[in-house]
Amino acid sequence: MELTKEQLMIQKMAREFAAKDLAPQAEDRDRNHEYPAESLRKMGELGLLGMLVPEQYGGEDMDTVSYALAMSEVAYACASTAVIMSVHNSICCGSLIRFGTEEQRTRYLVPMAKGEIIGSFALSEPEAGSDPASMETTARKDGDCYILNGTKRWITGGATSGVFIVLAKTDPEAGHKGISAYLVTKDMEGFATGRLEDKMGQCASDTTDLILSDCKVPADHLLGSEGDGFVVAMSGLDDGRIGIAALSLGLGQAALDQAVSYSKQRVQFGRPIADNQGLRWMIADMATDVEAARLLVLNAAAKKDRGGKCSKEASMAKLYASEMANRVAGQAVQIHGGYGYTREFPVERFYRDARVLTIYEGTSQIQKIVIANHVIGDRKKRKKK
Ligand code: CAA
Repeated sequence: MELTKEQLMIQKMAREFAAKDLAPQAEDRDRNHEYPAESLRKMGELGLLGMLVPEQYGGEDMDTVSYALAMSEVAYACASTAVIMSVHNSICCGSLIRFGTEEQRTRYLVPMAKGEIIGSFALSEPEAGSDPASMETTARKDGDCYILNGTKRWITGGATSGVFIVLAKTDPEAGHKGISAYLVTKDMEGFATGRLEDKMGQCASDTTDLILSDCKVPADHLLGSEGDGFVVAMSGLDDGRIGIAALSLGLGQAALDQAVSYSKQRVQFGRPIADNQGLRWMIADMATDVEAARLLVLNAAAKKDRGGKCSKEASMAKLYASEMANRVAGQAVQIHGGYGYTREFPVERFYRDARVLTIYEGTSQIQKIVIANHVIGDRKKRKKK
């Protein structure tokens, strides 16, 4: 796939920023669970937090291919920063662009495009992960407010973000058609951040519960109409999955590059281990795996840019790239031998950071449901006929 001059420029800008600002700090931030606030501020200035936002709302109005390229570069240096960038740009800004009123866009999208407010997405619950339609959080209209009650779980940026797209049931009897989406901010009465997860990887990005106890959300903070929430979430996840696929690609490329570099330096039996055929074949497989993921990521992004529905392509890219990142990071650790199992080399962090990629924004098994529904047809809909 031929990239345009503009796309190559954006890729270069993101690569230089990530190498200079993110890579040198990634290890310490992971170890200290330190949120990359200052880097995010700079990313806002560079336009990396409003990449898909139209210019009239202060964004960069870029294409999805450019966004995926930039995402991979950020993830190459720091997966924690990349997931914050992905949730913010894809699901949050994307949903406001698609469903926000003029007033909501002016109030939230404009500062979000500059990175002054970071956005998060609150869909999952303790008993509703892969099956969000079974959520228990409720929203009840009360005068000029909605009253939200429930607990949201595994929320990226739960302690640090400024605005949350929260999904809640306005009609508990109506299944997915009874779900609505709200713009919720921390200062709203009844909103609290809950427990902080003690995670395996991506430790510089916080993941928490959100506790909504009679949380008072002004009625004009409803995103879309009542009952639109499931479609807000699913269409947001289409974009989000391209972001996570691009993140996975960057991480896989970083693991591959580290493995190549180490294999040339490490001498055993009197020669670099890169001279052993067993290892050369491993690296050939890893490079092919990364390249296949790259093509799926760019294909999904290009499909979105052509304006078509891209659920299938986004799920294929997310499925393949996230599994690839796990395979390649695992092989990179193997090539490093005992050193790969220590914190002395970054592949240990890559291995931990990769693990969640096949879980969040839809597990690999969920991606296969989406893909199969497109390829074979939706089982539920066929049964109804
Ligand atoms: N775009 C627009 N509409 C969509 C859609 C899409 N991509 N996908 C489905 N819909 C619509 C359908 O057309 C259907 O509408 P109608 O009733 O009008 O026909 C409706 O939504 C329901 O669709 P399904 O019957 O397919 O829904 P389902 O309940 O069977 O679920 C699913 C489908 C694919 C399994 C879905 O539940 C899913 O994606 N689950 C995984 C959830 C997930 O990814 N969670 C991640 C949490 S977010 C996160 O991790 C963020 C983070 O912080 C990192």
